[in-house]
Amino acid sequence: MAVKNDMTKDFLHSAYGGESLAHMRYLTWSKVAEKEGFKNIAKLFTAIAYAERVHAENHFKEIGGPTNDYTVTAGGVFGYNNTVDNLQGAIDGELHEVEQMYPVYLNAAEFQGEKGAQRSFRYALEAEKIHAKMFKEAQDLAKEGKDLDIEAVYICPVCGHTIYDEAPDKCPVCGAKKELYKKF
Ligand SMILES: [Fe+2]
Ligand SMILES: [Fe+2]
Repeated sequence: MAVKNDMTKDFLHSAYGGESLAHMRYLTWSKVAEKEGFKNIAKLFTAIAYAERVHAENHFKEIGGPTNDYTVTAGGVFGYNNTVDNLQGAIDGELHEVEQMYPVYLNAAEFQGEKGAQRSFRYALEAEKIHAKMFKEAQDLAKEGKDLDIEAVYICPVCGHTIYDEAPDKCPVCGAKKELYKKF
């Protein structure tokens, strides 16, 4: 069902824009990491790009409504640098979402009784907390010229929950089954 209240609707559009930008940015930074020889950091960027796409799609579905134009205002991190600097951009972006953006958006959706938007914002908030930590760990290693020591990254296709090496039996955020997780 389409969102009813304008304020929550604006926040969904903005979050959709922000997640779409993050999706593209991480794919670009993944290629930089690959070139610098950080194969697993490149994989982390690619996997998390997919998680941001899941968030964007969730927000898009919650906006719903008729097919029409809408001007989207969304914040995004820019910069095309080395992997250590790119990871700083990633950390800054994720922390902005965790500490400012999603808590405020979630509060608005709760205040306005927008259940679907609440779910969509909550899913993103929980995933971004994990992303901020993962990018920080990756950056600490990259500063020493080291790559992440991981086998794979798993992403929940429903909420974007992100975990290394093995998917849980049930997603701790949305309850999706292990088999649904996408492996990178
Ligand atoms: Fe994220
Ligand atoms: Fe999930």
